[in-house]
Amino acid sequence: MLVVSVTVCAGTAATLSAMMQAMNDSPPLYQVLADRLEGLARTGSLKIGTRLPSMRHHAQQQGVSISTVLQAYRTLEDRGVIEARPKSGFFVRPTRKAPQESKPPAKPAMVEVRAIVDTVLRAAGDPRYISFGAAQASSDLYPNQRLRRGIARSAQLHAETIGRYPQLAGMIELRQAISHHALSMGCDLDHREIVVTHGCREAIGLCLRAVTAPGDIVAIESPAYFGFLQNLQSTSLRAVEIPTHPRTGMSLDALEFALDTQPVRAIVVVPTVSNPIGSTMPVTAKRRLAALAAQRNIPVIEDVICNDLASSQEGRRAAKSFDRTGHVMICGSFSKTLAPGLAVGWVEAGRWSRQVAELKRACSAGSVGFVELALAEMLDRGSYEQSLRRLRGIFAAQVATGRQIIGDAFPKGTRMTDPSGGFFLRVELPSGIDSIELYKRCLAMQLVIVPGALFTTSKRYQNCIRLNVGERWSAARIEGLKTIGRVACEIMEEASRGET
Ligand SMILES: Cc1ncc(COP(=O)(O)O)c(C=O)c1O
Repeated sequence: MLVVSVTVCAGTAATLSAMMQAMNDSPPLYQVLADRLEGLARTGSLKIGTRLPSMRHHAQQQGVSISTVLQAYRTLEDRGVIEARPKSGFFVRPTRKAPQESKPPAKPAMVEVRAIVDTVLRAAGDPRYISFGAAQASSDLYPNQRLRRGIARSAQLHAETIGRYPQLAGMIELRQAISHHALSMGCDLDHREIVVTHGCREAIGLCLRAVTAPGDIVAIESPAYFGFLQNLQSTSLRAVEIPTHPRTGMSLDALEFALDTQPVRAIVVVPTVSNPIGSTMPVTAKRRLAALAAQRNIPVIEDVICNDLASSQEGRRAAKSFDRTGHVMICGSFSKTLAPGLAVGWVEAGRWSRQVAELKRACSAGSVGFVELALAEMLDRGSYEQSLRRLRGIFAAQVATGRQIIGDAFPKGTRMTDPSGGFFLRVELPSGIDSIELYKRCLAMQLVIVPGALFTTSKRYQNCIRLNVGERWSAARIEGLKTIGRVACEIMEEASRGET
């Protein structure tokens, strides 16, 4: 057994505390400790199987309290970096090979989203298909009954909302409930600035329209959620893709480089549980992102649709929580966490709040009042929080099963993400496998996957796929996933024989 002494900071323990105190708005010590240890584990300086020093020893070494070290170790456990072994201590965890940081081209490109997106989305609601395509969970995982009853009660109680035009920015009760809920992401949002939207996509679209003009360049993650690409395409915007790491998200160094070298007008980013790779930026990076937006006077459109599903509490914190200048426009919805069918989203657009509210008013007169009131009640009564706690556990188990099957059934050399929450897996197949070909062959067998080409404006990610593992595992779904793996193996063999 390998046991190490870990020097987290080059200086003394006093340096660590002093350094933190000197920084304005500094992150808690346990987080600094956790980030550094994670860095050492990711670069291999701390090898898999290494035992971390005892908490007492580490606390002495760093001049911090034992509870700080304990919290740092717990955080690392949440992040999947280390594991506790009974009576032995904490050990660096083995991980299946994750894909590497992306290397998209630095030049901006016009966006053209493929027709495959339509097929993927249509198949999700078609019982003839086993869909690993559209990003949706089994509907019975959500508290449907409670919501249905709440909506029925609300329709009775607030029948007058049916006979009147809705409130333009959404019912005040829902906006207050969203503002209250946003505290769990560290955000202090004024409910009067919140606009209720038709899902998160509309929120993002409104923000983009408020801050850009056709032809402008927008920085996005690479790979990026294809819905963003559709947003950009529909408003004739160009995308510059920023390298993104499967665990820590968008590279801020690369983003800074893009800002230095190109007239980027906005940044669209999912700092927590991104789609498709499930990455979450460390809190320190979220702080840096907000600071960057202020320094460069550039809007960050932050998508927090999956923050409530992040496995760790610190992961749920939004970059918006560090925004002191109104440069972060925060967009969310309940589509992944409560009721995709209700399509209720929201936005607080910081210094662009007025423009966003005007754009929203220009295209619709608000949405269904009694539904919004029912949602507000669920949020206020804590039923939403309660359901989230259950969901996080279920999705973690769904993902673990998916990873296991992929590890066993997919071609040798396959890499996959280890998402920080949520229910997508991104799988990187060995380089000879064309994921469009895999998609076509699977579709002929009523199996749906999303090929990697949909997540980029470039010709990258040909060998990648995204799988939705949020639908309950049935015998048919397990068999379906194994079949996808088998088909991938066949394509690989054909490629090695020079047949494709
Ligand atoms: C990151 C991200 N943002 C936005 C959306 C769309 O959200 P909504 O359905 O609420 O419009 C999705 C859906 O998959 C998503 O993954």
